[in-house]
Amino acid sequence: MATECIAAIAALRERVSRAKLAGLRVGCVPTMGALHAGHTALFDRARPDCDLLVATLFVNPLQFDRQDDLRKYPRDLESDLQICDRHGVDVVFAPSQDEMYPRPPVMTVEIEGLADGLCGASRPGHFLGVATVVMKLLNIVQPDFACFGEKDYQQLVIVRRIVEDANLPVRIVGVETVREPDGLAISSRNAHLNADERASAPALARSLRAARQAIQQGESCAAVLRDNAGAVLDREPLIRLDYFEIVDPDTLKPVERVTGPVRIAAAAFLGKTRLIDNVLATPS
Ligand code: PAJ
Repeated sequence: MATECIAAIAALRERVSRAKLAGLRVGCVPTMGALHAGHTALFDRARPDCDLLVATLFVNPLQFDRQDDLRKYPRDLESDLQICDRHGVDVVFAPSQDEMYPRPPVMTVEIEGLADGLCGASRPGHFLGVATVVMKLLNIVQPDFACFGEKDYQQLVIVRRIVEDANLPVRIVGVETVREPDGLAISSRNAHLNADERASAPALARSLRAARQAIQQGESCAAVLRDNAGAVLDREPLIRLDYFEIVDPDTLKPVERVTGPVRIAAAAFLGKTRLIDNVLATPS
């Protein structure tokens, strides 16, 4: 297998600095493993733009607000390495928990404003954990650019802002959401859905597309858009909506009136599984 797997921070740093000294461009794709077509789209996006492609594989305990969620997170390093190999990843950085957090961190990355709404409201501490580990990973790998999926839009916005605020010399590249043929955004959580839940799940993406179309056709009132989506999703007995919001794409603040580009973001429970999705909408 051509993909090299490195577990130690010092060894990874050594590998990357050798590449940089040789003038090579380094790209990075941070992941928690359990790789699927959403992740490989990030590898494929990064591959042509760099000479050394580093994927990080680390299930970050700091970003899990529920211990059972952390425990049942799928882990399969062998299969992930094969997928990385097929997509031209040069180096997989797969550190242990002790390597990343030899002792509890005294420095964590608090996010002002951006982490309170949307998923932050129902997942306290989640984005502090994400921001802290992303800051550590970008400092360890020191890539020229790093790819993140639009699927986790709030995360993408937060990563852009911490990089800006901390003046990290890394370009953040957002990559469009990869979907199943029926529109469902690909996620490792989809595997937890039973057959009936799986059949209902695309309704979430449909409700987002309907709202986007309404915006394109001139509807500008966020309350109307939210009510319409709520009414459609109410007809799906297996779906329990967590939020459906129309927000400013940069500040993530809810908008009352759509006067420019917005992100429409939603989260819903199907049984115990929580799914998220979002789309960009621009009034014509
Ligand atoms: P993880 O859930 O493994 O996702 C890794 C990256 O893949 C993220 O940038 C995510 O947005 C992207 N991704 C997941 N599903 C996608 C899809 N269907 N289409 C496009 N991109 C998709 O997100 C994390 O890990 C972690 O929070 C991490 C950033 C690694 C920090 O621990």
